[in-house]
Amino acid sequence: MMNLKVNIGNLEIKNPVMTASGTFGYGPEFDPYIDINRLGGIVVKGTTLHHREGNAYPRMAETPSGMLNSVGLQNKGVDVFCNEIYPEIKHYNTAIFVNVSGSTVEEYIETAARINELDHIPGIELNISCPNVKEGGMAFGTSCPSAVAVTHAVRQVYHKSLMVKLSPNVTNIAEIAKAVQDVGADSVSLINTLLGMAINAETRRPALSTITGGLSGPAVKPIALRMVWQVAQAVKIPIIGMGGIMNATDAIEFLLAGATAVQVGTANFIDPTVTIKVLEGIEAYMLRHGISDVNELVGGMRA
Ligand SMILES: Cc1cc2nc3c(=O)[nH]c(=O)nc-3n(C[C@H](O)[C@H](O)[C@H](O)COP(=O)(O)O)c2cc1C
Repeated sequence: MMNLKVNIGNLEIKNPVMTASGTFGYGPEFDPYIDINRLGGIVVKGTTLHHREGNAYPRMAETPSGMLNSVGLQNKGVDVFCNEIYPEIKHYNTAIFVNVSGSTVEEYIETAARINELDHIPGIELNISCPNVKEGGMAFGTSCPSAVAVTHAVRQVYHKSLMVKLSPNVTNIAEIAKAVQDVGADSVSLINTLLGMAINAETRRPALSTITGGLSGPAVKPIALRMVWQVAQAVKIPIIGMGGIMNATDAIEFLLAGATAVQVGTANFIDPTVTIKVLEGIEAYMLRHGISDVNELVGGMRA
């Protein structure tokens, strides 16, 4: 018998393979391709208090070994999520996390409090990469005081699993991870996208309407692995690792660096069945190496 179960704080999930927010819709989009119930968890699209249109097109561009996006958290707002989307997805037998975003601490609080009422949502992932409009637009997640303020405030109203998603666009990610742990985060997930840009030399136009955007895919994996490893030295809470995971070997590298679970993002756009392949590949690796419990891999790098 092989154990694939892992614990994210008090929440047990059936295996360490999850999907990354913004790359897996709300789940039903992938029903034609995979059995979502086999996944450890899914993180649904970024959800905000109010409806958001997102940024102007073009807002996605392919780059070497990756992609840039500036979708801008397009979503219909938390009320539509609770009233229309939640009833459509609550039957899934997988841990559903809602990715929560906001431009002010108050928006985060209100959105999290609404989602706290939903019985079949065991957790939220707090996306602190949004610009804090009250403090001049700097992302919540790029300074310890603002990351702490939003995490602490949400912790007061949100009583289930609180995962805080960290921005890699910082000098010392471990310091921010430790700070959010100390105010009640149950886990941290990392990395969100890295700020990048691309220009078409022929037209002299930027590839994205917003000029800069978030880089994801294999190009970011070495940076993501390094950050997961650094955070693992600094915190006691579980880490959910992501950034460029394309196959089971990539996922196993994140576990070895110290992640308890992983999220698969950009790869879903290339192969909508990739998450199941990652899961089956982890099982095959465990069989091959005589490992009976996936938790043995967590932090198992031989330095
Ligand atoms: C098109 C797109 C949309 C995304 N939307 C969100 C989002 O709404 N909230 C969030 O926290 N991260 C969002 N992300 C970031 C991913 O969840 C993930 O952190 C990042 O892409 C790195 O993983 P990957 O290289 O496997 O894609 C988005 C990424 C992409 C490519």
